[in-house]
Amino acid sequence: MRVMGSPLCAAALLALVVISVLLSLLLGSLQLGARRRLSASGSADARGSALRHQLNERRKEIIPLLSPFGRDGPPPAASQRRPGEPTSGAAAPRDEISAASGRGSAPDEMGCGSLAGVRTVDVLGSGYTKLVVKVVLPRTDQPVALKFVNEQGNDMEKCLQDFQDPRGCHELVSYKIKKEIVLLQRLKHPNIIELRGHCMGDAGRDERGEEGAGKEGGRVTAILEQGNPFQMIQLLQSPWEERFRVCLGLVRLLHFLSRSPLGSVALLDFQPRQFVTVSGELKLTDLDDASVEEPACRADADCVLHFPRRNFTLPCSETLGVCQRLNEKRNLYNAYRYFFTYLLPHQAPPGLTHLVDHIMNTTGELRADINQTMEAFEHVLLLYKSGLHLDNLSPSIIRDYTVMRGMATSGNVEYRCWLSYSHQGCVLSVHNAQEAAFICSSHSQCTSFSFSGQRTWTGRLLASFRSSFSHLVPDGTSEVYLKKAKPSV
Ligand SMILES: Nc1ncnc2c1ncn2[C@@H]1O[C@H](COP(=O)(O)OP(=O)(O)O)[C@@H](O)[C@H]1O
Ligand SMILES: *[C@@H]1O[C@H](CO)[C@@H](O)[C@H](O)[C@H]1NC(C)=O
Ligand SMILES: *[C@@H]1O[C@H](CO)[C@@H](O)[C@H](O)[C@H]1NC(C)=O
Ligand SMILES: *[C@@H]1O[C@H](CO)[C@@H](O)[C@H](O)[C@H]1NC(C)=O
Ligand SMILES: [Mg+2]
Repeated sequence: MRVMGSPLCAAALLALVVISVLLSLLLGSLQLGARRRLSASGSADARGSALRHQLNERRKEIIPLLSPFGRDGPPPAASQRRPGEPTSGAAAPRDEISAASGRGSAPDEMGCGSLAGVRTVDVLGSGYTKLVVKVVLPRTDQPVALKFVNEQGNDMEKCLQDFQDPRGCHELVSYKIKKEIVLLQRLKHPNIIELRGHCMGDAGRDERGEEGAGKEGGRVTAILEQGNPFQMIQLLQSPWEERFRVCLGLVRLLHFLSRSPLGSVALLDFQPRQFVTVSGELKLTDLDDASVEEPACRADADCVLHFPRRNFTLPCSETLGVCQRLNEKRNLYNAYRYFFTYLLPHQAPPGLTHLVDHIMNTTGELRADINQTMEAFEHVLLLYKSGLHLDNLSPSIIRDYTVMRGMATSGNVEYRCWLSYSHQGCVLSVHNAQEAAFICSSHSQCTSFSFSGQRTWTGRLLASFRSSFSHLVPDGTSEVYLKKAKPSV
């Protein structure tokens, strides 16, 4: 199977590139070797069996995710394994992950082989569990993000404290990446980072000599579409249209997750840092803390969602014995408190503020479900795109301007405006020339504006506003609107 092909040279090269550039990683693996020799001498059976228990738990967590029918579908092949069978065959999920990717409609194609000869390495980010680097693949010249176990992360550190078994700990933490790979294979959506492939390359091959434990000692690598770490501060200074785009993407994601192929998925560690942006579109990248279980309950009192400033009691379905749609509500309130409150109300277009306020109120009170919330967002998008929210603009305002088609300006004197698309001047998105005229007339410095034909993601036009310019130059696609001198009364 192609995805399983793991030429030794590819794994070695990958290890070489990463290790040579990431000095910290190198130091980490040296320390690891030293600790491994230490732990090998002091045998602690209790610790060992506790770790094996945890490994087994992690393995069992992945298996239901592998079924193409979701949790309630026919049992996956793995459950046909006899109950008493030893779990040291932890290599099983390795095979299953690849099998799952092979039978899906969109297999993640890249394997260890595609990592041979990767160029330029950059650290994109790191968290408790994972280290993410940017590499350029030689064959296609495309940048991708690789995720590995973060040897310096809290997960590794805590495990080493508890078990003093570097190899076992590496394996334990690797399960989180395996889980993420499986989830990314099953959950395909425009607002979830795209899995390009994975590699269970055996970087620990040289240590195979060691008895037993060597089986699963390899490095697990997820190969992903590359994004940019989510930057809240930067987004707060961006136009409302871009902030709305992020919130809309999040709502579409949560709508998908509420009825995904795996059931209703809750994001337990819901934070902006679990997301990246790809060309302005929000994408979820950290999925290892996703849960597909709705909590069990016997009464409504068992279904309380706790947040720092609010608690919500949700209904317990007595027939099913689970909290009804708790995952969906948890996600939605997190979207409200981490994203909407910062991004949505501020500088919303005047014609849309009542709708935005309504969204803020219904999500903040959890009065709307994800379906209703998505409907409200799509309605705002529709109005915004069609310019219907502008119908109270005075149509005559455009008569204060002279239009010159096929022209652009030169020798501009720019001024800056709040939430501009350009930091040098004042560039804003508008529905049409009339809206631009309205904006220009409300800026005391503005004497002209022009269109170059550029559009935003919603299809609105980008208009440049300026104080003055020295002359006009022919430009086939542009238009300049010049404010007429005030008629003397
Ligand atoms: N595909 C990606 N492109 C760019 N940066 C990424 C990508 N995936 C993750 N990152 C960055 O790496 C950080 C750590 O990744 P994450 O999966 O969240 O690891 P952890 O589980 O340890 O929190 C993220 O916070 C994000 O900033
Ligand atoms: C939420 O519930 C907890 C535990 O029941 C309680 O201590 C806390 O005060 C409640 N918080 C709010 C904001 O109601
Ligand atoms: C929603 O609106 C009600 C009534 O106007 C108000 O009391 C409440 O604080 C609002 N909630 C949020 C989260 O905005
Ligand atoms: C939500 O929308 C989906 C279709 O997108 C539909 O199947 C489902 O029944 C809706 N749920 C509720 C509670 O309205
Ligand atoms: Mg994270």
